[in-house]
Parts: sequence; C-alpha cells; structure tokens
Amino acid sequence: MKAVAILPGQKDSVHLQEIAKPQPKAGELLVQVLETGVCGTDLEIIDAIYGTAPAGENFLVLGHESFGKVVELGRGLENSDWSVGDYVVSTVRRPCHANDPNCESGHSDMCRTGQYTERGIKEMHGYMTEYYTESVDFAVKVPPAFRSIGVLLEPTAVVEKAVYQAFKIQERLEWQPRRAIVFGAGPIGLLATFLLRDRGLEVYTIALSPGGPQNIKATLAERCGATYISTQQIPLDDLKQTVGEVDLIVEASGSGEVAFKGLDNLAINGVMVLTSVTGGHNNLSIDPNMLNMQIMMGNQVVVGSVNANRRYFEMGAESWQRIEKKWPGLLAAVITRKLPFEAFKEALIKDRTGIKTVLQITNEE
Ligand code: BGC
Repeated sequence: MKAVAILPGQKDSVHLQEIAKPQPKAGELLVQVLETGVCGTDLEIIDAIYGTAPAGENFLVLGHESFGKVVELGRGLENSDWSVGDYVVSTVRRPCHANDPNCESGHSDMCRTGQYTERGIKEMHGYMTEYYTESVDFAVKVPPAFRSIGVLLEPTAVVEKAVYQAFKIQERLEWQPRRAIVFGAGPIGLLATFLLRDRGLEVYTIALSPGGPQNIKATLAERCGATYISTQQIPLDDLKQTVGEVDLIVEASGSGEVAFKGLDNLAINGVMVLTSVTGGHNNLSIDPNMLNMQIMMGNQVVVGSVNANRRYFEMGAESWQRIEKKWPGLLAAVITRKLPFEAFKEALIKDRTGIKTVLQITNEE
C-alpha cells in the first residue's frame, strides 16, 4: 500500500513509499485512513528540523492528524464497544516504557523521560497511508455527526489540553478570567479562539495578515465574537494601548519573539500558555531583569503545553458539540483545502492564505 514518507535528516525528501498492509493483533483495530491533516510540524520535519525513523528503518511515514474508519477488529474485540464502520481518530504519542509514572498512568503527553515515541514524528510511522493498526487504548471513537471535521480532532485536543492546563494552574487563586489574547490565527490559534469564546471570554486574536472580509482567518474569529487584530495594522509594541491587559494568553503564532513581547499584555495573576513548536533561531534582545520583575511581582505563570492524551481528545469532541450548536459550520470552515492523495507534494507546501489542508487518502463508498 502507498504511504507518504521522508528520509529523516534529508531536506525535501518527501516521496511515495510502498509499505506492507498491517494485520491487527489482539486488542488492535485495523483502520482505513480517510483523511490526514497537514500541520506545521510536518513541514518542519520535511525541512529536516526534526523527525526520526522507527528503529531499523531509514524512512518515516508522515502524518499525525488522522481520521479513519474501522475495517477489522483484532482478536478479543468481538464483544467490545468497537464495531466495523466506526469512525476513529488515534492519538499521537505512545508511552516510554521507562518507568515513568506519567506514561504508566495514561499521561504520556507529560512523559518525563523524553523517551516517548510519536506517530509520524518520532520513531513511529504516521497516518499518511492507506491503513494502520492501533491498540484501542490510543483510539478515540468519533460520532458520525462529526464526519466532516473528524480530522481536526488532534489539533483540537492539543488546544483543549493547553486551555485545561491554564485553568488548572489558576486554581491556585480566585481567578475569574474575562479577557484573553490568542497569538496566531492558524488552526491552533483559531481553535483556541473558539474554545475560549465557548467559555465566554472576550477574545482578541492577533495575527499577521490584514483583517477584512477577504481574510478567512479574521472572518472565522469574528464569527464567534472574537476581535481580530493584524500586527500590520497595530504593531505588537502598541498592542497594550489598544487591547489592554488580559488574564490569559495562548501563544500559537510559532514565534518566540511574539511570545516574549506578548507577555507585556499579561495582567497581574495572569497565565500564558505556549503551544507552538518553533524551529530556527531569533536574536531578539530582551531585558531579563524586567521580565523577572514582571513575572515575580505579578504572580504570573508562563507554561508550555505539548501533545494531548486521549482524555483531551474526548474533551475536544465534547467542546465540538457546544461550538457546533453556537456557531454551526464554524469548525468545518477551518478546513480550507482538500487535496487527493496523489497531490501530496502540493499539500505539503505551506498555504499562507488558507488555514488547514487535508489530504484525502481514501474516498468512502
Ligand atoms: C503534535 C503533537 C506533538 C508535537 C511535538 C505537534 O504538531 O500535534 O501531538 O506532540 O507536535 O512533536
């Protein structure tokens, strides 16, 4: 069967790879992949910034945002709550098996050893292929009503975790957040905008491209009641004058510079959560004394959040129920480009005006 793969460490090595169709073992599902989402991480792997092949192999099958259909149940699942035909999204990270209490308790997203593996990213093949097998422990059932947006569940789970972490941390005080900034209006930034609007916060979504009806990112942010601001119209340094201070910042622009300059907008007792994988370097000079003073005197928290365990996938699907009710069609509009499997090379080139690109792996009968 066909798979889209790269040679780790070699820039622009994306190619079609022939691999064997897997057989489900006991407790596993055989999943036919319908769609795979393209993410900034895939593009950075193609750029050879990271990405590692499974042990003993020289290629890595890409893709960690999956949506598929169960086509066969492994032994022992005959009387389980899984059936052939169920829609499924599988998580990305697998536990490290190195006596880490987080991994052992189902929280591999918090793996302490760093020896975890990740589908399509680190030492495990991904989902940009026709079939895969997966243990039910890492598979999440998706209601048929979400057929058109199922492929967005992985990025939603990542955002769900980030927001959950911020709120959990803030249980340290009496926190009644009213205002939030989201930096970035890519898939993660927009999904964060939707989740925070769903929680009733006043949200400012800050991104590079100019606002207006031509800009789909601005349109979607505004459709759920957020305010979209372009840094071309209001530079980052002037943001505080315009927006004022906020209780929560979600950094999803992928720019370390935005993250640290953006801290200027954080109110006393506020929390900033960093969600973006950023490659490369930046020589921004910051005044560490000022930063130290601000965070210390303000009881502030800056926290990183990566990946998501299955619990956040389930929470993501619950958030979708509410978001769909409040703003029908908003989530589906995040998918701005669907390309057939054959067009994988085109799909893996960054689309600056669109939001999420999806590769259609199999057409459902
Ligand atoms: C994925 C996460 C993953 C992270 C780091 C992100 O793009 O969504 O699941 O943990 O990359 O590899």
